[in-house]
Amino acid sequence: MTGKVIEEDVRTIAAGIMPDAAKLSGRTLLITGGAGFLGNYFLLTIDYLNRNVLEKPCKIISADNFITGVGYRIEESENFRAITHDVKYPLQIDEDIDYLIHLAGIASPRFYRKYKIETIDVATLGTKNMLELAKEKKVKSMLFFSSSEVYGDPHPEHVPTNEEYFGNVSCIGPRANYDESKRLGETMCIAYHQTHGVPVKMIRPFNIYGPGMRLDDYRVIPNFVAKAFNSEPIPVYGDGANTRTFCYVSDAMIGFFKVLLAEGMNGEPFNVGSEDNEISMLKLAETMAEIFDNKINIEKTSGPNDAYTLGDPKRRCPDLTKIKKLGYDAKVDLKTGIKRFIQWAIEEYRIQSPLAEAIKPT
Ligand SMILES: NC(=O)c1ccc[n+]([C@@H]2O[C@H](COP(=O)([O-])OP(=O)(O)OC[C@H]3O[C@@H](n4cnc5c(N)ncnc54)[C@H](O)[C@@H]3O)[C@@H](O)[C@H]2O)c1
Repeated sequence: MTGKVIEEDVRTIAAGIMPDAAKLSGRTLLITGGAGFLGNYFLLTIDYLNRNVLEKPCKIISADNFITGVGYRIEESENFRAITHDVKYPLQIDEDIDYLIHLAGIASPRFYRKYKIETIDVATLGTKNMLELAKEKKVKSMLFFSSSEVYGDPHPEHVPTNEEYFGNVSCIGPRANYDESKRLGETMCIAYHQTHGVPVKMIRPFNIYGPGMRLDDYRVIPNFVAKAFNSEPIPVYGDGANTRTFCYVSDAMIGFFKVLLAEGMNGEPFNVGSEDNEISMLKLAETMAEIFDNKINIEKTSGPNDAYTLGDPKRRCPDLTKIKKLGYDAKVDLKTGIKRFIQWAIEEYRIQSPLAEAIKPT
């Protein structure tokens, strides 16, 4: 099931990547982690392009082991094949592959503290296996989904943070299995680019949110919404002073496709996010309460694990100068994006709650 909100998002993404999207015509794209939040947006967008835009369909192959993925929102067909596979093991594909998106990862602190070693494996062994495949198939372009977490807890003079910043990361801290493995994944990309000419680009997303995120994922926006609909106070960990920027998924997806389809720029990292909405977690909770007509309470509490307390970076805000040169611009403001997420959740989970009344269609 996709629903009205996701369908609208997909149309927005498709419009935002024209005319470059035509490059996908008649091509084959391999994606890892296609059964997750961002993966489904990739699949739905290409499915939409196949039905409405491309002269010849783009065939998609997705490899996912469902460690956190919720499943696919499109049916298998002659243009879409799903493989259950853990990418820490090499993947053999008979067809040619033109584009490769290594999206698989364990993204939420809730899950990367639970699956500590799997998180490292997918970002390191998984990345190496995909780089080998990209080399063998001589792909036109590959994306590796790294993270803004490679910057760790940036020094204040490096916020907003550009791609040149080296990062301030602990190799043994509570987030290290995620942060350090993404950093090594990027180093592998550079090594394969320099040694074998693999045309890989590294994406560093800054807190992308939207429909399709699991409500039990513990990333902050779905977590706040889940608590509200469970009639529980929304939890703010610690003093709530730490900041993030949040980028609605349709904006981010346009950025991802622009980098995938860009000419050149191989072996380079790209920040993708929104620079306008840097907001403290307390203010985010207050914004959420306003969206629900102040019918929910906020509670300061300790986080569910050490990644939310000891390891939580103080500020996170991207410098987007580089990706803006590709014509990228995040357009959806925070309140609009959160309301879209809530509308989707109400529809997807058939939520019956007086709180649902407060959400006016955007
Ligand atoms: N959403 C964000 O804000 C954000 C921010 C920074 C980085 N990222 C990165 O983007 C990627 C996608 O994030 P998402 O939000 O869609 O996460 P998600 O958890 O919704 O999706 C990740 C998918 O990868 C799959 N997966 C994990 N390990 C695998 C393995 N070993 N083999 C095969 N499949 C595997 C999971 O089952 C899941 O379907 C991740 O690599 C994540 O680290 C996302």
